[in-house]
Amino acid sequence: MRSGVPTRHWLLSLFIIVVALMLMSQTTIANSMEETVKLREKLESRIAEIAKNKKLHAQMVSEGHDRTVLCRSCHGDDGIAVKPLAPNLAGQNPAYIVDQFQRFGDGRRNDYLMSNLAKTFSFEDKIKIALYYADMKMKPSGGGDLSLLPAGERLYKEVCVKCHGKNGRGQEGYARLAGQRHDYVVKMLKEFRDRTGKRTNIWMTGVAIRLDDRDMEAVATYLANLD
Ligand code: HEC
Ligand code: HEC
Repeated sequence: MRSGVPTRHWLLSLFIIVVALMLMSQTTIANSMEETVKLREKLESRIAEIAKNKKLHAQMVSEGHDRTVLCRSCHGDDGIAVKPLAPNLAGQNPAYIVDQFQRFGDGRRNDYLMSNLAKTFSFEDKIKIALYYADMKMKPSGGGDLSLLPAGERLYKEVCVKCHGKNGRGQEGYARLAGQRHDYVVKMLKEFRDRTGKRTNIWMTGVAIRLDDRDMEAVATYLANLD
């Protein structure tokens, strides 16, 4: 059976190519994870440094104010969104805001305007803007079907609290959710669940695929009415 030899060769080549591709993709994943960790460390140390210096903090916030003139038509003068489907930014976790700018900038998150804007900011600009919004007071947006509040609270406390923190206040790099607009929370949960490619995150997709539309309505109502 002479034909067996080329077949074996062919299979062996295929095997080598597959293994090589797997190794290459693992290296790429490892590299990008390493970059993410480095960036997070850089961000955390810069935020800690600014927190220790009141004068520097005030200066960063004031420069953040100057860089957000264009943002007010959607995110509001006081960080409370004035356009449907735009998120409130007041009181948001600064580490989360900077991380989202990185994601818009490198394509892990996609929104025509926000992705283009994010590319124009330097790392320091991103921190200034984040600290400016973090300093503002969040006012709950309200809304939703209030009869779903108890179900929303139960779901939040069972599933979401370990990452998004007690009372939805956010922690470490995780987003604050308390007071966030109902329409925006539902939209984001659907994007994570339906994997449209606009926004991908392994953790949030893992959470969102277990929720049906009613769960999303309930948890969004709970969050929109939470101080
Ligand atoms: C035309 C309206 C509009 C303008 C102007 C705008 N944004 Fe946005 N922004 C949005 C929308 C809509 C989203 C949600 C995008 C999505 O669906 O993923 C968003 C998302 C964000 C987020 C992510 C928040 C989160 O909770 O994940 C940040 C941070 C942000 N914008 C900051 C800014 C800043 C800073 C500016 C000004 C330099 C700005 N935006 C200008 C509409 C706008
Ligand atoms: C294992 C940790 C984890 C759990 C549990 C979790 N989340 Fe998240 N959540 C994340 C991460 C990480 C992000 C940021 C994803 C990104 O940057 O793309 C996020 C982002 C979000 C956002 C977008 C916030 C914004 O401002 O754009 C919403 C809304 C959200 N989560 C809702 C929920 C809800 C509701 C639950 C519970 C049903 C939940 N999450 C449970 C980790 C988690």
